[in-house]
Amino acid sequence: MTNIASEYKPVRVDLGNRGYDIHIGPDLIEGAGGLIGPYLRRPKTAIVTDSNLADHHLSRLTASLADRNITVSAIILPAGEASKSFTELGRVCEALIDAGIERRDTIIAFGGGVVGDLAGFAAASIHRGIGFVQIPTTLLAQVDSSVGGKTGINLSHGKNLVGAFHQPSLVLADTGVLDSLPDREIRAGYAEVVKYALIDNRPFFDWLETNATAVLERSGAERAYAIRQSCLSKAAIVAADERENGARALLNLGHTFGHALEAAIGYTGELLHGEAVSIGTALAFDLSARLGFTSQAQADLVSAHLARAGLPTGISSLSNRLPNANGLLRLMGKDKKVVGGTKTLVLVRGIGEAFLTCDVNDKVLLDFLAVKLNP
Ligand SMILES: NC(=O)c1ccc[n+]([C@@H]2O[C@H](COP(=O)([O-])OP(=O)(O)OC[C@H]3O[C@@H](n4cnc5c(N)ncnc54)[C@H](O)[C@@H]3O)[C@@H](O)[C@H]2O)c1
Ligand SMILES: [Zn+2]
Repeated sequence: MTNIASEYKPVRVDLGNRGYDIHIGPDLIEGAGGLIGPYLRRPKTAIVTDSNLADHHLSRLTASLADRNITVSAIILPAGEASKSFTELGRVCEALIDAGIERRDTIIAFGGGVVGDLAGFAAASIHRGIGFVQIPTTLLAQVDSSVGGKTGINLSHGKNLVGAFHQPSLVLADTGVLDSLPDREIRAGYAEVVKYALIDNRPFFDWLETNATAVLERSGAERAYAIRQSCLSKAAIVAADERENGARALLNLGHTFGHALEAAIGYTGELLHGEAVSIGTALAFDLSARLGFTSQAQADLVSAHLARAGLPTGISSLSNRLPNANGLLRLMGKDKKVVGGTKTLVLVRGIGEAFLTCDVNDKVLLDFLAVKLNP
């Protein structure tokens, strides 16, 4: 666990003939032409990206592809969550056809989770499904959204309500590209890194206790190691339960609370997804302690870790922006993961010991939320 010498070996997502490699390391964008070339049936592709990536990094990617004589069209979305819409999906699909993309071609999603989810869904739908490569450029996308094949867009009714499972053919997580990412986005992605440690990897949590600062502040070996551990966790869970019939739901640790907070505040950037997950994770540990599944000391250790990373861990400071406990509970009930009105929660028996339960009734949740809103 402590050997972080990042020898260059991809992480494999083992899904049989839909399996793929995740490459993690510096300078992968410069090498993209050589890595992606073997996946193209002909030397032609389209990149879907957003306006921030177009400003910072797109020219390096197109140059790398051009070096291998690959012809590229770039389709640029406005940056931000609002692009995960039918309007932008339609625009991207029209542009892909304009660019001459055919049934056997492969496209490249180059950006954060917004670009990955939208471009992945376009790839799942256009010509009834074409190949795609993910080049994730946020920490969140590198450790989470680019792996596992969930793609989709939002409706006014809520996030990710229209989509498809569509696995990429290859993932290139270039750790250097994160250097231009705002610190707040790095911290938000870090909440998902901690999530993997808390689900089933206590030694990784102990490693993060020592190395969090290096992971957050530098694109070095520690950051690459944290991304690698996260991808190993996600790859194992996805390989065991691709369509989320069971264990994959563990990845929702902190998310049932977190999604309710995001829905209450709105998707305007005031509360980032990772920040909501951080609060949700602290709440999941606190609730687990309150119900006697773990000790308050474990819950406090997790909250302190997240707080040291500059992440929020409580809801009382947001209470003037949130509905009351009843309203929050209603929002938790709208989560996609609710089946027949029953909420499945991810709780913990300790750090690295997450489990799923449907046994927490609404009265218990209401009392808990009321205390958290007004401690
Ligand atoms: N498919 C999945 O399994 C899955 C999992 C988790 C989250 N998601 C989705 O991911 C989305 C959030 O993704 P995100 O946090 O990456 O947000 P994002 O894609 O909106 O990126 C955040 C911001 O960073 C900018 N940016 C991206 N890379 C940059 C770089 N290297 N340098 C400078 N700026 C850069 C973007 O333009 C954007 O403004 C949500 O829509 C969420 O639903 C999907
Ligand atoms: Zn998440």
